[in-house]
Amino acid sequence: MATAVSPLELDTAADDLRSAMVREVQRGLLPQPRSLPAWMFYDALGTRLFERITHLAEYYPTRTERGIFSGYADTIVSRARGESSKPLRIVELGAGTASKTGILLDAAAHMQGRVEYIPVDVSETALEAACASIEQSLADVEVKPVVANYVSAPIQLAPHDGPTLALYIGSSIGNFSPEEQRTILRNLKVELQSGDALLLGVDMVKDRKVMEAAYRDAEGVTEAFNLNILRRLNKELAANFDLACFRHVAFWNKDESRIEMHLEAIEPQHIRIAAARLSVRLAKGERIHTENSYKFTENSLLSLLEDSGYFTEETWTDERGWFSVTLARVV
Ligand code: AVJ
Repeated sequence: MATAVSPLELDTAADDLRSAMVREVQRGLLPQPRSLPAWMFYDALGTRLFERITHLAEYYPTRTERGIFSGYADTIVSRARGESSKPLRIVELGAGTASKTGILLDAAAHMQGRVEYIPVDVSETALEAACASIEQSLADVEVKPVVANYVSAPIQLAPHDGPTLALYIGSSIGNFSPEEQRTILRNLKVELQSGDALLLGVDMVKDRKVMEAAYRDAEGVTEAFNLNILRRLNKELAANFDLACFRHVAFWNKDESRIEMHLEAIEPQHIRIAAARLSVRLAKGERIHTENSYKFTENSLLSLLEDSGYFTEETWTDERGWFSVTLARVV
């Protein structure tokens, strides 16, 4: 990590995470239909499994977005900088391991020399990977990581003399409901100044078979990623889920414009989550809803940005129109 974090702060962060997990299982597993929040996928193993997903033949979003960045990085960064003669700073929400961000940081470094990069993520493991790879490959980028849940509370950005480009890419926003998406973008806007820019990368609605295959890969990596949420609860909250008693389910929900992932009990189960003092009986066939991945149309994307108070400037896409990257301005 680039910034020094005291052991005490780390303990506090771990405690906060643990109590957030306890709250989420009480909120999500007691009432029916049962659910768990998608952020819980991303412990160290989950982060690695997602990284593997991004390389799967069926999982098109990552490589499609990377292709868009490779083709348009200079244009994107110079549009973001606008008329300003001061250095652009780049903030990234849900940075993960920041594997595609390097293309944009590199373009910015070529234009202005030094670049300050602030990756924000709930996963400390992911941020460590991001810092290591960026600092190693891009000498002119100064990384200042922030471990934070940008959904539950607005992040607090240090003042900066120059424009800011906020990245929210990788269709990370697709994990949230349309209302939450608007809350996240409005909260972000509070931290930005007039003239600052947002770069939003989202996955588009396409042929159902293509979308479903991306979440039901032949190798079973997505299944392992989905089941990992239960393994994490076993490990961190002393739960007793039997992973062999669950089936990975993923399908397109057209009315809601989203892929849904669930874990379905193939046997009746009596689950105890000791650290949450919780006991739950699951019937055979009962599901735990673990993730939504919303897909956008041109119109739904435009209304998201408009409703959240941004002015849409330009959209870049691949030749099949499978993924889109939009630059929007804070007015
Ligand atoms: C990280 C939210 C963009 O929704 O495609 C991939 C997560 N889940 N396969 C997505 C995910 C299952 C991914 N996002």
